[in-house]
Amino acid sequence: MKVAVIGAGTMGHGIAQVSAMAGYDVWMYDLSQEILNSAMSRIRDSLNKFYAKGVVKDVEQVISRIRPTASLEEALSGSELMIEASPEILEVKVDIFRKAERLSERGSVLATNTSSLPITEIADSINEKGRVIGLHFFNPPQLMKLVEVIKSVYTTDETLNRSLDFVNRLSKKAVIVKKDVPGFVVNRLLARLMNASCQLLEKNYASMIEIDSAVKYKLGFPMGVFELADYSGVDVFYLVFKAMKDRGFRGDVCPTFEKMFTEKKFGVKTGEGFYSYPGKGIYKKPEIPKEAGTGFDPWLVAAPEVGEAFWLMKTDTASESDIDTASMLGLGYPKGIVQMGREFGLENVKDRIKKMAEITGKEEYSYLLQFLE
Ligand code: NAI
Repeated sequence: MKVAVIGAGTMGHGIAQVSAMAGYDVWMYDLSQEILNSAMSRIRDSLNKFYAKGVVKDVEQVISRIRPTASLEEALSGSELMIEASPEILEVKVDIFRKAERLSERGSVLATNTSSLPITEIADSINEKGRVIGLHFFNPPQLMKLVEVIKSVYTTDETLNRSLDFVNRLSKKAVIVKKDVPGFVVNRLLARLMNASCQLLEKNYASMIEIDSAVKYKLGFPMGVFELADYSGVDVFYLVFKAMKDRGFRGDVCPTFEKMFTEKKFGVKTGEGFYSYPGKGIYKKPEIPKEAGTGFDPWLVAAPEVGEAFWLMKTDTASESDIDTASMLGLGYPKGIVQMGREFGLENVKDRIKKMAEITGKEEYSYLLQFLE
């Protein structure tokens, strides 16, 4: 089966690699031979690591399945599944989808890896709208098991089923996002956690270290909230949260994120974020002592996430088990967020959300409460 990966950057080269590892023939497109060469050398480095771990048996064989090309026509012609991983610009994506509709195999799947653009709007730009779907991989695609599979209002069952088969064959875990909502599942959960944490910081209710320590050591999250923002990039979160807000997500983007975005304090990549790093792109784990979080109740920032999970369930956007899978595989939580909330007690969850409403005065918290009734 011919898979076309359009855009060979951070995500595209990884998606091309995992597709080739699963046995697909992959055509990987980007604007220039230079970019493609760099993508191929990143793929080779990663495959060598997998080889050393015994995951890949024959690096050259996998490489031989990937054909880099600077011709969009060549990449798309006769492809049976396309994954577009071009820049997050609607016009760029629409142009690719229009060409893909014409050049690829009739009826084949046309998927986008967008983080924040509406899948439905991309589908609206072509005639056979039912072929379009979101396949949202996580960074790095070589290691992250989760793929959010997002239906637009037009996506056919055939497109969905073929996409699920593809994700399974990559040995990844698909969660189905039945409605094309801003932020899908993982970014919606994360937006609640990050905004709540940031609001408490702005209100001087708790310090960054207190919050980070408490979520790590009391809830077992893999990273502190601000630690994660720095690690993945304050800019990345700011832009996704802003796009979500612009599309109707009920919640403000915390002003501190905006300020840091404007000041280019993106975290590890700029050497300065919520924490400081030895230099640009040089990662040193921030020191977050266990005792620092003793006096802070991490459920204040986790409860809104549970509220969001209930929003997703009550609006029939995602199932409870898919939300739990997404929070474990996408965010590295020790248990699913709904399960954690149920074990903590939904009355306690509501109580913390009410407290957040009191502390911040934000209406998003009273809005969330109704979904827990
Ligand atoms: P990137 O900037 O690393 O890669 C984009 C690639 O597209 C570049 O190599 C660029 O040369 C190429 N490109 C530019 N114009 C193009 C065109 N007209 N046609 C085809 N390719 C073109 O971006 P990244 O991070 O890989 O993001 C790609 C997509 O994946 C975006 O939609 C983004 O929202 C999404 N995404 C990104 C994640 C991340 O953590 N970086 C995670 C999940 C999704």
